[in-house]
Amino acid sequence: MSPPKTTDAPAGTRRRILVTSALPYANGSIHLGHVTEVVYTDVWVRFQKLRGHECWYVCADDTHGTAIMLRAEKEGVTPEELIEATQREHERDFADFAIGFDNYGTTHSQRNREFVEAIWRRLRDGDHVVQRSVTQFFDAERGIFLADRFVKGTCPRCKTPNQNGDSCDNCAATYTPQDLIDPVSALSGTRPEERDSEHFFVRLADFEEVLRGWATTDNLQPEVVNKLEEWFAEGLRDWDVSRDAPYFGFEIPDAPGKYFYVWVDAPIGYLASFAELCEREGIEFDDFWKRENAGRTEVYHVIGKDILYFHCLFWPALLWGGGYRLPTSVPVHGFLTVDGTKMSKSRGTFIMARTYLDHLPADALRYYLAAKLGSGLGDIDLNLQDFVQRVNSDLVGKAVNIASRCAGFLHKHSGGRLADALDDAELFERFAAAGDEIAELYERRSTNQAVRRIMALADEANRYVDERKPWVLAKQEETRDQVAAVCTTGINLFRTLLIYLKPIVPGIARRGEQFLGGVELGWDDRLRPLLGETIAPYEPLMTRIEAAAVEAVVEASKDTMTASPDEPAETPEPAGPPGGEEIGAEITIDDFAKLDLRVARIVRAEAVEGADKLLRLELDLGSGVGRQVFAGIKSAYSPEDLVDRHVVVVANLKARKMRFGTSEGMVLAAGPGGEEIFLVSPDAGASPGLRVR
Ligand code: MSP
Ligand code: ZN
Repeated sequence: MSPPKTTDAPAGTRRRILVTSALPYANGSIHLGHVTEVVYTDVWVRFQKLRGHECWYVCADDTHGTAIMLRAEKEGVTPEELIEATQREHERDFADFAIGFDNYGTTHSQRNREFVEAIWRRLRDGDHVVQRSVTQFFDAERGIFLADRFVKGTCPRCKTPNQNGDSCDNCAATYTPQDLIDPVSALSGTRPEERDSEHFFVRLADFEEVLRGWATTDNLQPEVVNKLEEWFAEGLRDWDVSRDAPYFGFEIPDAPGKYFYVWVDAPIGYLASFAELCEREGIEFDDFWKRENAGRTEVYHVIGKDILYFHCLFWPALLWGGGYRLPTSVPVHGFLTVDGTKMSKSRGTFIMARTYLDHLPADALRYYLAAKLGSGLGDIDLNLQDFVQRVNSDLVGKAVNIASRCAGFLHKHSGGRLADALDDAELFERFAAAGDEIAELYERRSTNQAVRRIMALADEANRYVDERKPWVLAKQEETRDQVAAVCTTGINLFRTLLIYLKPIVPGIARRGEQFLGGVELGWDDRLRPLLGETIAPYEPLMTRIEAAAVEAVVEASKDTMTASPDEPAETPEPAGPPGGEEIGAEITIDDFAKLDLRVARIVRAEAVEGADKLLRLELDLGSGVGRQVFAGIKSAYSPEDLVDRHVVVVANLKARKMRFGTSEGMVLAAGPGGEEIFLVSPDAGASPGLRVR
């Protein structure tokens, strides 16, 4: 994507840039998909700052909607409590990935409410709002209108039962919930009734001309423009922006019981979060958002491809209708897959940010993602084996290695003092000159190509040291005085690489700057070598990552407590508070009879190598033949305490192949997990093999 016209400013002009990434939902934890997006954005923002531009990066939690309301209800907390706890967790996760937000807000703020209401008033006054009645399913037991995904039923076309309210997983038919045969509410299991209610709509077609003028390859990626043209061709339908109470969100002024749909106040949260920053930093909000200033400042919303419609149609319409400028661009990235497939909980590849951070350094993943992410919409894959190999060979083996190879000689022969001249000034100049091309690649968000170019330079730097062989020079009296000049060249090549890598690996960069004397490096420092200064003794700037750590992440991400191999929904359900789980769906006595529960004695128990949570149990069920069961109880029990204990086992559970072997049953336990796992035991005297009923 080419930068907008406003950036063709003469060198030395300071651009003024505002960048956002999509606001993560407050109903779940940050996972590596979210991390992909913020790393992609953060690298670009750090690059702009490094070049000396004024660049602000804001984000916020997206806190409203039915899902959050229901989740809070289920956990027995208020939505406010839920979103506050989630926000703290999100902020910590992002901080530990070194995401340099200048402000992280929330959509549930008074300021956001004010922005929403102001934009709403202008839309209404501009005659862009219409009102009409909508017929929808209503769950009378819960007293709530049901969004499509909360209605289940039999597909009207292929008759497959238990399909969602909008489409069929089996035959891919699309329909409305009212078309379903035998619809039920996913919330209460009761049959919903049809009810009418008044809704507000924004007439998107009013903005078609503005949107068409904006949606060109001057601003957007070609794939995005194509998609928008498809939507224009289909015709822009009115957008339903209201929801009925009960709803966690902002009530619509003059419309009691009606709330703004979460997708109205979510993007407006970009404005509110930025306004907070403006207040704190003394930035003029209007410089970035007033229409007449659109040519003087730049605004970018980085998003994943799943929310394109919202950001390229709804959001610009809201902005324009609200009297604001349009974004300079909406850079769209693809999705992260892990080991070639969608992140999966049963495979242990639905990895939470925190799980990763418990075992591995942020810079390693930042580097890998940067090496993969480009300016297109294609998905990118985190191949776990390749990840270890690539981080070790590139970051440790190539980049950091140059510093460690040269620093020792300087300390040994010249007290850590750099020579006053380079051994190969021409090579240094070439490294500096490469910065223009690398900057161009960063600017276009072709981060993957920037990384390739930087690593090619790292190879060159290592070749230089290989050829000049300071260890040989140091051995002979007549060449000893060349050692410092050679190593000074090596250190300066490293320093240039460090500048180029700085947006991607801020941890390594900070340690590298310390090593080089504690001065913060800017992009233009590549032009002048560091000479005559004293550098610190070398300490590892980055150490190799171990495959075992990655395995531990995967293991910790596996849902070992669930017997069902079913994939969970996108957002994994957290373990509820102890004792706080809802009673599950009703079953009949016949369903219960299908369970073959038996008393068993634990004959052996042992830890499983490479598995964080699992114990391997050998059970005696009275038949004389031992049974192997893997149980996710390691966090609560030591193996030696378990031997000879009597437990209750689901004996007829279909055997499950796991990474460490086959599990032939399941041991019953209560509790949310961690240290709070309580094995279920029969009273004394019950012998192995007895049926439990
Ligand atoms: N709350 C909305 C965004 C509102 S913006 C006004 C939302 N939240 S989200 O938590 O579901 O997603 C946040 C961002 O993460 C989105 O841009 C989404 O595309 C991105 N990703 C979620 N999973 C992802 C991957 N697996 N890979 C890359 N990005 C992914 O949508
Ligand atoms: Zn069907």
